[in-house]
Amino acid sequence: MILSIESSCDDSSVAVTSIKTKQLIFHKKISQEEQHNKYEGVVPELASRLHAQNLPQILKSITHLLPSIKAVAVTTSPGLKVSLIQGITMAKAIAITLNIPYIPINHLTGHIFSLFIEKEKTIYPMHILLASGGHTQIMQIHSQTDIKTISKTLDDSFGESFDKVAKMLGLGYPGGATVEKYAKQSTQIKYNFTVPMLRNKSLNFSYSGLKQGVKVQIEKLKQENEKLTKTQIQDICASFQFTAIKHIEKRLTAYFSQNKIQDFAIVGGASANKSLRQSIEKICKTQNTKLHLCNLQYCSDNAAMIGRAAIALHDDLLSSL
Ligand code: KG4
Ligand code: ZN
Repeated sequence: MILSIESSCDDSSVAVTSIKTKQLIFHKKISQEEQHNKYEGVVPELASRLHAQNLPQILKSITHLLPSIKAVAVTTSPGLKVSLIQGITMAKAIAITLNIPYIPINHLTGHIFSLFIEKEKTIYPMHILLASGGHTQIMQIHSQTDIKTISKTLDDSFGESFDKVAKMLGLGYPGGATVEKYAKQSTQIKYNFTVPMLRNKSLNFSYSGLKQGVKVQIEKLKQENEKLTKTQIQDICASFQFTAIKHIEKRLTAYFSQNKIQDFAIVGGASANKSLRQSIEKICKTQNTKLHLCNLQYCSDNAAMIGRAAIALHDDLLSSL
């Protein structure tokens, strides 16, 4: 079995996966959302302190599995440095104590492998949209050693823009699921926000202009009355979400027209967004492309994806143990 740890942001997560069958033997995540909510964002110092409490608490519950652990994998980057260091230190201590290999895993690679959690086989080549709180990018994986980033966001990410809009509307942190919920309650796309980078032909993304557009609209409404009505909040959320997804739609339509794509996937915390899923489903249907979605519980940060990535990327080492 392989033990994996993820602590790149505000989720403390530990998993144990069978190297041979890829079956998840144990998986637990302690979210810190509640503690960061009142600050309307992640407070690094608090996140670090909570990881230092939560990770040993989870690890304590699986001491009986330790004799079967053959390697330990951990997220080493990118992420919040003070959060990452907690998982890294614990993984190194376990590797030294048990005298087993220590395997560093890139967080974004981890998200790609969330597609294959509890699945025997990987599928390559896979074209991927990674939409999370820290990143929005188009990626390709051709083999264990050939992972390419095709385009990225130039500023804010898709998920981050949801968090920032939620903060402007006083909807708390994290904002993604809440903004989606309010958007669903709206009956119209009332505000005509500009789709980002329409004249830019690259495949890159940008969300800071859209965020600014939403801010200006909120300020305009606040001049009429200080507190926005529920309907106004719902309409802002719907118009923002519509435009944020339109931007992805435009980029993916261009990307699909430049590439013959058999398998496409969406991963990352924001890939849980139903409207985003539906919009990409439509594109894939017209292109005759198979769309791969990861199980909702594995969209956001988790240690199971880190374990699955380690098994896929280091199969030679792990099968020799
Ligand atoms: O992958 P993840 O758990 O952490 C990072 O690697 O960043 O993604 C978290 C991000 C947050 O910005 C959160 O607001 C966003 O994913 N998110 C969503 C939804 N659910 C989570 N964004 C849009 N719609 C959602 N339903
Ligand atoms: Zn993530």
